[in-house]
Parts: sequence; C-alpha cells; structure tokens
Amino acid sequence: MDDSRETQGPKAFVTGYPVKHSRSPLIHGYWLRQLDLAGSYRAHEVSVEEFASFIASLKDDTSGFVGGNVTIPHKEAAFKLADRPDALSEELGASNTLWLQDGVLHATNTDGRGFTANLDERHPGWDRGDRALILGAGGASRAIIQAVRDRGFKEIHVVNRTVERAQELADRFGERVHAHPMAALGEVMQGVGLFINTTSLGMDGEAAPWIDFSPLVQGAVVTDIVYVPLKTPLLAQAEEQGFAIVDGLGMLLHQAVPGFEKWFGRRPVVDETLRALIIADM
Ligand code: ATR
Repeated sequence: MDDSRETQGPKAFVTGYPVKHSRSPLIHGYWLRQLDLAGSYRAHEVSVEEFASFIASLKDDTSGFVGGNVTIPHKEAAFKLADRPDALSEELGASNTLWLQDGVLHATNTDGRGFTANLDERHPGWDRGDRALILGAGGASRAIIQAVRDRGFKEIHVVNRTVERAQELADRFGERVHAHPMAALGEVMQGVGLFINTTSLGMDGEAAPWIDFSPLVQGAVVTDIVYVPLKTPLLAQAEEQGFAIVDGLGMLLHQAVPGFEKWFGRRPVVDETLRALIIADM
C-alpha cells in the first residue's frame, strides 16, 4: 500500500503495555491491503499511568483515531472509561474494542465471539453437547464462559489450580457454572463434549502433566486458547488419544473482525493466507 493510503483513511490502534508483540497490526494491515482500503492500524504503547489521558484525547478527537483494540493491562480501564460499554463488556467488566461515534466512545469485548467463530469454522457441531469444561479461571476464561453459556451449554465446569478463583467465576456467571479443584479433573470430564484449556499448563518450562481424556464423550473436541505453539502440549495429548482438536489461532483472528468492520466499514474475512502470515511470524 502506498503511504498516502495510510495517511488519508481512518486511523485505528492497538494499545497495551507492552504492545510490541501484538500481532494485531499484521492482521489489520493484511485486511486493509486485501480490501484496498485507505486507513492505518498501528501499535501504540501506553503505560497504565497514561491510559486515562490517552482515552481522553480520543474523546476530544484530537488524535484523529476512530477507535482501536485494547490489550493487557488496559482492558478493565477501557471498560470503565468508555461512555457506552455494551452488555457483553458490562458483564465481563472488561473491553478489548473501542470505537468513536459522534464523539461518544463505545466499547465491546470480542474475545468470546472470536472463540465461537473459530470453533464454528474449524469444527462445526462443536456446540451440540450440554456439558463444557474450562481449565483455568483467568481473564480469558471469563469471556469464554460467557460465550459458551450464551451458546446454550447447560453445564459449564471451571477447573482451576486455585479453586477460589473458579468459585468467583461461578458466583459471577450464575447457576450453570460450577467450580472444581484440579484434583477433580478426571471426574468432572465425564460426559463433557467440549474441553477448553485457557492455562499455560506444560508451557512454563515444566513438563505437561499427562491428562487422560478418555472420560470425555465420543466425538468430543479439545481446544486451546494459546496459539504459540499452535499445537500445545495439551492438544498434542488429546490428538494422540483420538480426540478432535482446534488450535487457538483462529480466536485471535476472529476477535479482530468486529473492530475492523466498525473502523473501516467493511467486514473482513479470516482466510488461510492470513493464518499463514501469522504462523510465519511466530
Ligand atoms: P489470562 O488472563 O490469560 O487467562 P491469568 O489471569 O494469569 O491469565 O490466568 C492464568 C490461568 O492459568 C489461571 O487459571 C492459572 O491458575 P491459578 O488461578 O491457580 O493461578 C492457570 N495456570 C497457570 N499456570 C498453571 C500451572 N502450571 N498449573 C495449573 N494452572 C496454571
């Protein structure tokens, strides 16, 4: 794309601290070129101390930005500072996508949509069962609990090393969500058709513990939100044991779609070329 196209169109950003490892500029840059649109999308490192004034400058429209993505550690602050967070962000208390409309700063959270769109694309029918299991109770786990609940799962079991964190989520998301300690994993897996890992288990220098996936229902799908490496130790184990697996890269790609559409006015497509571009950058 020539320089004038970047300087003329709408300007969007990704902000975080640090933000240099973000793959979002690669994703949005690819779509801008593919759709031949004028516009730019750049990484903007903003510290915790500077974040409120960064948001204020957006609202004053002195920056020229139409909106952007927000990543760690600013998702909660983005939600609090937005004029109009939607119901999804409201329930999570965190937003990852902002856009300005008539001077009003809107916010949503697209992580859950990214999660479901990835599974819809790579394993249609993933949502047929009643019982889902989520390993981990951090920030990413919340958006996934919400998405899986809204997709109609009747029982959502959160298993976490620190059971108190899982219990907080169960209290927050209501009667369909249940908390369990790690020791209960095998038992809780009985009858589960969707197993989701949101932890870095087996990737922090320690060997991955062996997980016996056999209590899962036949045809169950195992997915991970971590995408480096694409096949995490846990996915490799599940595949070896004959279960379908879905990697987490598509979640990253699909969560970017709604923001792009808001800022640049066209709905982009997640295609294999984009996947290959991100994989080549890993
Ligand atoms: P994120 O916001 O990306 O989900 P997080 O809030 O740091 O990240 O949460 C990480 C999750 O991985 C937590 O559920 C954590 O368990 P604890 O709540 O007990 O800390 C889990 N996790 C990380 N390393 C783990 C390990 N070695 N064994 C088991 N769970 C682990």
